[in-house]
Amino acid sequence: MKPIRLVTASLAAAALAVSLAAPAAAAPPAGDPPRGHAKHDTLRWVAPKGFHIGSAVAGGGHHESQPYPDPFTSDRPYRKILAKEFSSVSPENQMKWEYIHPERDRYDFAMADAIVGFAKANRQVVRGHTLLWHSQNPTWLEEGDFSATELREILREHIMTVVGRYAGRIQQWDVANEIFDDDGNLRTQDNIWIRELGPGIVADAFRWAHQADPVAELFLNDYNVEGVNAKSDAYYALVQDLLAQGVPVHGFSAQAHLSIRYGFPGSLEENLRRFDRLGLATAITELDVRMDLPESGEPTEEQLAQQADYYRRTLEACLNVSGCDSFTIWGFTDKYSWVPVFFSGQGAATVMWDDFTRKPAYRALRSTLAEAARCGAQRPGRGWAPGHAPRSASFTDGRR
Ligand code: G3I
Repeated sequence: MKPIRLVTASLAAAALAVSLAAPAAAAPPAGDPPRGHAKHDTLRWVAPKGFHIGSAVAGGGHHESQPYPDPFTSDRPYRKILAKEFSSVSPENQMKWEYIHPERDRYDFAMADAIVGFAKANRQVVRGHTLLWHSQNPTWLEEGDFSATELREILREHIMTVVGRYAGRIQQWDVANEIFDDDGNLRTQDNIWIRELGPGIVADAFRWAHQADPVAELFLNDYNVEGVNAKSDAYYALVQDLLAQGVPVHGFSAQAHLSIRYGFPGSLEENLRRFDRLGLATAITELDVRMDLPESGEPTEEQLAQQADYYRRTLEACLNVSGCDSFTIWGFTDKYSWVPVFFSGQGAATVMWDDFTRKPAYRALRSTLAEAARCGAQRPGRGWAPGHAPRSASFTDGRR
């Protein structure tokens, strides 16, 4: 079934129509989530059946330098909202090499296990993030003096161990993350795997992941690939090459770290659609929309309206492509966002204020999901559930 096409009639009018709530006072809630997070009033409840609406699970990374304890394990109201609002979760840092494989002969699965367990208890799917990346690798790996044969075996063993441990419990894996630069060149310098082992290692990573978990959907994931551009063109060429070789690549995903400082990537839908036509699943995996904060630190109503518009248009693009049934935001509350830590003077990038009250962007997502569900945009696609083979698993023979 084709998805019902969602079109924003007048973006300007729609943006103005979004009701604007004043930022709430910063005091964190002490007990239950604030009113308005009732079950029937949540993103996952209103979403079309089979469409996964997700959030990153805050922990590790920049959180460790912030003046609060680990969010996922310590903040009860945060956990309640994570469970109620979302049907998919992505470990923000907890499955990255530096956390899950801190020493050559030692894995630490505690945080990843906790997230996978939480997801099971709350009937959520999990997006695994990530297996082959140039960043957040442990020192023992980056500064080790390994031969090519040893490095290849280290990567194979890591993928078999980590993917194998969660086999059947991860819906989608970001197998290769950010392997091209913005000009569409493979990262042959800063990505240790590609530098030391050559570009063919990307295909091997997919093969090993598929071997370890034949039901997980295996993705290429990157930022600045929302629109049709040199970088997404490079992925488009790579995917065709991998498919021709029979490599089990099942999906292409755009992270979508957007900013209202720049125009909206208007060719997002067209871009997702061309990967869909190759037979791949598509996904939005890390959406947030940052802004330059005024001196007061509080976004203006216009900024919030524009932000809501970007959230809505990103969601609409995904809903309009039949194989795009996974849509994840990179955290749901400003309280834990990575944005102010990385971009000085910018922030307010998520859909909820520090105290978990909802912004216009939240309401834009919810109304768009509800409209899609009302229009009958069910997601018939792969309908992933533990034990179901991914749509393109049969591509392993190289034919579509
Ligand atoms: O490794 C250094 C350590 O040596 C130093 O002492 C410490 C001091 O703060 O910083 C450590 O680096 C931190 C790094 O995580 C490693 O844990 C950075 O400060 C910290 O900012 C970083 O944050 C994470 C970032 O990935 C790293 O690239 C964020 O929490 C996480 O949200 C972010 O997520 C990425 C996705 O995985 C991929 N797409 C982009 C997205 C946003 O950057």
